[in-house]
Amino acid sequence: MCGIFAYINYLVPRDRKFILDCLIKGLQRLEYRGYDSAGIAFDGGNESPDVIKKPETKIVKKKGKVRALEEELRCEKDMKLDIEYDIHCGIAHTRWATHGAPCAINSHPQRSDVNNEFVVVHNGIVTNYRDIKKVLESKDYVFESETDTEVIAKLCKYVYDHRENEDMSFRELVEVVIAQLEGAFALCFKSIHYPSQCVGTRRGSPLLIGVKTKGNLSSNFVPILYRDNRGREFQDDVAYNREGTDSAFKRSFSTTDFEVSGDIKAAEYFFASDASAIIEHTNRVIYLEDDDVAAVMDGCLSIHRMKKEEGESMSREVQTLKMEIQQIMKGNYQYFMQKEIFEQPESVINTMRGRVNFKDKEVILGGLQDHLSEIHRCRRLLFIACGTSYHSAIATRQLLEELTELPVVVELASDFLDRRTPIFRDDICFFISQSGETADTLNALRYCKKRGALTVGITNTVGSSISRETTCGVHINAGPEIGVASTKAYTSQFISLVMFGLVMNQDRISTRSRRNEIIEALENLPNLIKEVLEMDEDIKKLAEELYEQKSILLMGRGFNYATCLEGALKIKELTYLHSEGILAGELKHGPLALVDKAMPVIMIIMKDSMYTKCQNALHEVTARGCAPILICQKGDKESQSKASRVIELPGTVDCLQGILCVIPLQLLAFHTAVLRGYDVDCPRNLAKSVTVE
Ligand code: F6R
Repeated sequence: MCGIFAYINYLVPRDRKFILDCLIKGLQRLEYRGYDSAGIAFDGGNESPDVIKKPETKIVKKKGKVRALEEELRCEKDMKLDIEYDIHCGIAHTRWATHGAPCAINSHPQRSDVNNEFVVVHNGIVTNYRDIKKVLESKDYVFESETDTEVIAKLCKYVYDHRENEDMSFRELVEVVIAQLEGAFALCFKSIHYPSQCVGTRRGSPLLIGVKTKGNLSSNFVPILYRDNRGREFQDDVAYNREGTDSAFKRSFSTTDFEVSGDIKAAEYFFASDASAIIEHTNRVIYLEDDDVAAVMDGCLSIHRMKKEEGESMSREVQTLKMEIQQIMKGNYQYFMQKEIFEQPESVINTMRGRVNFKDKEVILGGLQDHLSEIHRCRRLLFIACGTSYHSAIATRQLLEELTELPVVVELASDFLDRRTPIFRDDICFFISQSGETADTLNALRYCKKRGALTVGITNTVGSSISRETTCGVHINAGPEIGVASTKAYTSQFISLVMFGLVMNQDRISTRSRRNEIIEALENLPNLIKEVLEMDEDIKKLAEELYEQKSILLMGRGFNYATCLEGALKIKELTYLHSEGILAGELKHGPLALVDKAMPVIMIIMKDSMYTKCQNALHEVTARGCAPILICQKGDKESQSKASRVIELPGTVDCLQGILCVIPLQLLAFHTAVLRGYDVDCPRNLAKSVTVE
């Protein structure tokens, strides 16, 4: 998915080399989102900024990796790198093609004209771009790319050239432009008419701003000035000192404009699609809301809104991110995905931290506490998600039905929307999303909200659209997941949903022993995950046997049906092999026809209530000449006698076994992809954050 990064320095002298390195580094941090080309725009020319007569903007774009763009910049002739800027704005972008093939001309920044008067970077899709293009073409604007984004840059020039008010600010100009746009976007603008200024805005796609100020201040204390559009000023330092979003600082103003500025002049600002590009510069960030227009001018950041909805908060909290840069680096691992698989003993602890009291066998989810009585009164629970997040709901459905005694409906967000599924006011709708930005899930959330249902977010990304737009929720706290294929987020989503089931069941005496059994198993889970991870070498050997195959089938049922779906998804997305997760109970209804001696089959058979039925499936498969690879519990000799290879796992309570079973499959997909020579962290055609439908 596209990534935006912008860097503005104000009275913090930086040479061009520093600025370009900063922009490139910002793009590298966004690489994990998935992209096919990259570009940047910065102040051009070799004149000293003090004597500059005519500002110019230079654009450099390149198809392929950020590395290729960096190389292109290095090859730029006649570009002084030691030229120093006290004030400067640079914008940068990684593009994931939607309109027009990946190539330099379609990459961003897109420009208004050959003089680069206005340049823009964009994440999202402008749905009415054809209409705008037609109008602009009729006014002799010549388009050079196939993108929807180019209309935005050209519209800027049109508005500027036709402005009635000579003093129109950059921010006002952008507001006029975006009022014409339909669809979803996050945008950053730069212009030679507004040197060193930057304007950023969003509607439907994420955008946040990192703020770094200089001065003799303790790191957590920066007085902030809020000024409304009647010139009234408010000072408050609370926002800078707060941490996290759960207890968001709220303050209401009666006007539709407010301004955040510092009394410190020197400042640096970083606009980005997500925090991973900002965190190495500053941990103080502001998440923009839809329709916010943020402008940096003379070292001050102002945030304006075009319209004010009833009851809406008119402040933006400056949050302190707790994310560490090391958290988003690869550490000793070769790939992010590998690191994330091996982080699972810790990430599951982080998911449970402060929530599960193992001693008293109690579970508290602070984010849901105020809404529990409403949730208890509901007609049914709906879990809506895409991909791996959807699988986490399938994996826990049976337990949630058991613990809540409520009907549990699990929906793929896209299909849920396609069907315009009936939703009632007394439904409780959960939206599970690692990124918190998945367009289909977000649209489903808005759909349910409109129909009066209580909405609950289960996300990994604090400040994401889903975590902000839901009434309440649970942050899964798995830490940043950078590999495109979701691994540790799945196990943390799984545990979050189990914890929800336990919370719902807390007061029921009849099921106390079951609840205790699950809580005890949760406590021991990190150790068991470590034990499973120690089998890495064995799994690698298995990958060596399988990596040249064309297809792999995975079979299981009950608590491990979701494991099969998730394992197959991991295999197909990373290795590009065909892979299918099959409910073992469905074998006879079709899939058995695929089975023969040559077909690689992985079967999951655990010692739970499905054991006998899974044994039957095993017989059905072996009777067709197939000797499957078996994932089973330690010591299950009966199943093992019929297998070609065995992965023996430690046992845990039935409803958590799926967490242990999925890890060998994550490792298998990973090693197979490496052996096949594929980019494990960025599989082809896929993006980390799918912000388009
Ligand atoms: C697969 C994967 C995807 C995501 C899906 C939803 O490994 O990562 O299937 O699970 O795109 O994304 P989120 O969870 O961010 O809503």
